[in-house]
Amino acid sequence: MCLPSSPPTPTYRFAVVMVMRRRQPGDGNTRLFAHPPSSPPPPASFAVSGADGGKVNRIVLSKNGETSQYGNDISQIALDVEFQTKDRLRFKIYDPNNERFEVPLKIESPPLAAADTSYDIEIVNDSSLRFKIIRKATGTVLWDTSLANMIFADQYLHIATNVPSSSVYGFGEQQHPSFKHNMDHITYGMYTRDQSPKMYANLYGVHPFYMCIENDSNTHGVLFLNSNAQDVTLNPEPSLTFRTIGGILDFYVFLGPTPENVVQQYTEAIGRPHFPPYWSLGYQLSRWGYPNIDVVKETVKRMEQYGIPQDVQYGDIDYMNHRLDFTYNKENYAGLPEYIQEMKKGGLHYVIILDPFLTKDEARGTYRPYELGEQLGIWVNNSDGVTPAAGQALPPGYSVYPDYLNPRTADWWTQMCVEFQNVLPYDGIWLDMNEPSNFLNGQYPGCAHNNLNYPPFVPRISDDSLFHSTLCPDSKTYLGSLYNTHSLLGWSEAPPTFRAIQEATGKRPFVLSRSTFVGNGKYTAHWLGDNHALWEDMHMSIIGILEFNLFGIPQVGADICGFYFDTTIELCLRWTQLGAFYPLSRNHNALGQKEQDPAAFGIEFAAIARSALQIRYSLLPYLYTLFFEAHVFGNTVARGLMHEFTADPETHGIDTAFLWGPALMITPVLQEATRSVDVYFPEAPWFDYYTGDKIPASSYKKYVSIPAPLEKIPLFIRGGYILPTQTPATRTARSRLNPFELIIALDEQGEASGSLFWDDGESIDTIENGNYFLAKYTYSEAHLRTRIVHNSYQGVDSLTYDTLQILGVTSRPNTVLLNGKNIRSNDIHYQENGKLTIHFFAPLGEELDIILQ
Ligand code: NOJ
Repeated sequence: MCLPSSPPTPTYRFAVVMVMRRRQPGDGNTRLFAHPPSSPPPPASFAVSGADGGKVNRIVLSKNGETSQYGNDISQIALDVEFQTKDRLRFKIYDPNNERFEVPLKIESPPLAAADTSYDIEIVNDSSLRFKIIRKATGTVLWDTSLANMIFADQYLHIATNVPSSSVYGFGEQQHPSFKHNMDHITYGMYTRDQSPKMYANLYGVHPFYMCIENDSNTHGVLFLNSNAQDVTLNPEPSLTFRTIGGILDFYVFLGPTPENVVQQYTEAIGRPHFPPYWSLGYQLSRWGYPNIDVVKETVKRMEQYGIPQDVQYGDIDYMNHRLDFTYNKENYAGLPEYIQEMKKGGLHYVIILDPFLTKDEARGTYRPYELGEQLGIWVNNSDGVTPAAGQALPPGYSVYPDYLNPRTADWWTQMCVEFQNVLPYDGIWLDMNEPSNFLNGQYPGCAHNNLNYPPFVPRISDDSLFHSTLCPDSKTYLGSLYNTHSLLGWSEAPPTFRAIQEATGKRPFVLSRSTFVGNGKYTAHWLGDNHALWEDMHMSIIGILEFNLFGIPQVGADICGFYFDTTIELCLRWTQLGAFYPLSRNHNALGQKEQDPAAFGIEFAAIARSALQIRYSLLPYLYTLFFEAHVFGNTVARGLMHEFTADPETHGIDTAFLWGPALMITPVLQEATRSVDVYFPEAPWFDYYTGDKIPASSYKKYVSIPAPLEKIPLFIRGGYILPTQTPATRTARSRLNPFELIIALDEQGEASGSLFWDDGESIDTIENGNYFLAKYTYSEAHLRTRIVHNSYQGVDSLTYDTLQILGVTSRPNTVLLNGKNIRSNDIHYQENGKLTIHFFAPLGEELDIILQ
């Protein structure tokens, strides 16, 4: 049952029995204070020697006093502090005498402790036993907990910490009313669940990660690596209280000091985001409830007729026979394999849905995926560890659940996906319902009354139940009870699916997953689940997208126009404009709702949708370069204004606008019948994307009302940046061949810089194998230079530049020299607002030198 969110009074305390202190080069730079006890609690014995070959500071604590409220306290626990890198510290609190469940995510721990760190730790050996993590440069205390007040019982672990400010972001997956958290005793549960987004509920994924902007605008992040059902309470002190019902207390702290640095360091630890195929950045169309293949064909056709860009068509469960994985309906979807081939020829890609349950009730000898799996014994089992757990889900009859944590299951799944490619030549896979979802509460015949299914304490999760809409926690997986591994099942489905697409198609995988856990971004994109066609949901999608960028899953979007409920024309129009700037731009809706593809509402709607999506398509070279940077450096793709303007506190609370990388600000209309947006302009030169008009400096740090007629989503380009773009087309296969343009937005010094990453858009590991092109652009003193940093992609040879757009030019140049030769003056257009457009022709693969005189 739910407890009040305020921390319970400790019923027992810990005290130090032993300190083992690492001795490493650079040890002098770290401080481990063990102050003498002020009153004499149990004598602390300080054994000054390192644990784990000397790289770990270890403190062993002993319980002193009565039993805590839920019993089964662990009497002795250890705290290991590892100085993993200059900016990453791990501290782990565990039972040194008995193994407990630990999340099987491999985070590299360097062999030696970092010699030079940006943090210190401090342990005050008085009765409160405060453990502090301090930012050396400023003395800010990032983490401050009383170890004595912690509770470490078998099924109830509780730790609280003060945080240095209330600018706290992250934790998921839930629907949050604001990006910056409300710290007024708000509790969020984390336990993967098939739950349509609703405020405060635990949703599909688990991400116990937060970011905090300190008062001087340095920023740090913290991961609580734990997969058990848990919750966190945000308190006004400000402080955080973590409660979990299993595993250990395993924390990683990332010192930043900028928000981008935090995400870079976080993804360095948990795995950098995958590099998506180029086509998956195009527009994606889906719906549940295309009754037959003809309706799919008609939809695709009308998109083409209106010239609306589209790169991906999805097949939801409608394409399946009896909703069975690895089948297709040969009546309603007769000719699907041939149609997929036809789509491919036209530059479209087809993504199929797969569910993580297989019916066991088909006639014998008719459903090989199940029969093979049954032979291999690869399902999640009942508590006996032998008989498969049988729930009820989308397919008829009872279904079993693949235990993807078992390497044999992973191999079987890969094999099934690879074989299915010979039936349906899909391009990508959509992993749905992998929380895992079950339409029963617990498998047949229900969950036994034991302490796994009914633990003494249940965190703040929906229905106060660990088995509502899923399997019983005492079910057995390869890594032990679902009690520990439930929230990891969807996560463990991702790597074999990724591998399968690589094997099956020989190309870069696109996997879209509903359930995610820490590190999923390495393999999958994510969508925010079954939202509603409501204006409020459209706003909250921005928050979700910014959060998943913090979680290292930058390829994220929400169902454009809403999943449940019939959308309205105006909502869908505004949502299409906003969705054109989701990193993952996908329109999807539910069975029974009316059609909402952008070609469904007639010519005027189609024209507006087309123009928004054409902007997306023209900016795809910039977006792709951002994904390259996410993959290589761990940057975010969509980011909150606070990432770039951290020192401006007004940006901390903004979640109605967002940025693509550092340079493009997207300010959508989020209210009905509204024809303007109040845009906050942080202090930087900004240019209107459409006109090139410069926002006057008098508007900096102010909200300005910007007109937003129905046909337009306001967009702004930040001075100081160069954005590569390309003439759009209705498929990326075609737009990728079009000429490039550079938008050069000048800062106050008349300077700008940027880059372009390019490759074939679909081969595996092009970056790792060096098969790519990378150019850096710098503009200063009226001089644009290109430096080709890497040039090993031959496809570049047929590509050209044809336009420069320079924003913020103070006067018309007399001449413009391209690599020493004059550009014809007819090709130079100067506007009074300082926008200079230059048309020219130059190969992409050669360095540019353009001088304005
Ligand atoms: C639930 C998913 O969230 C939704 O997107 C999908 O359409 C349905 N399952 C049917 O497959």
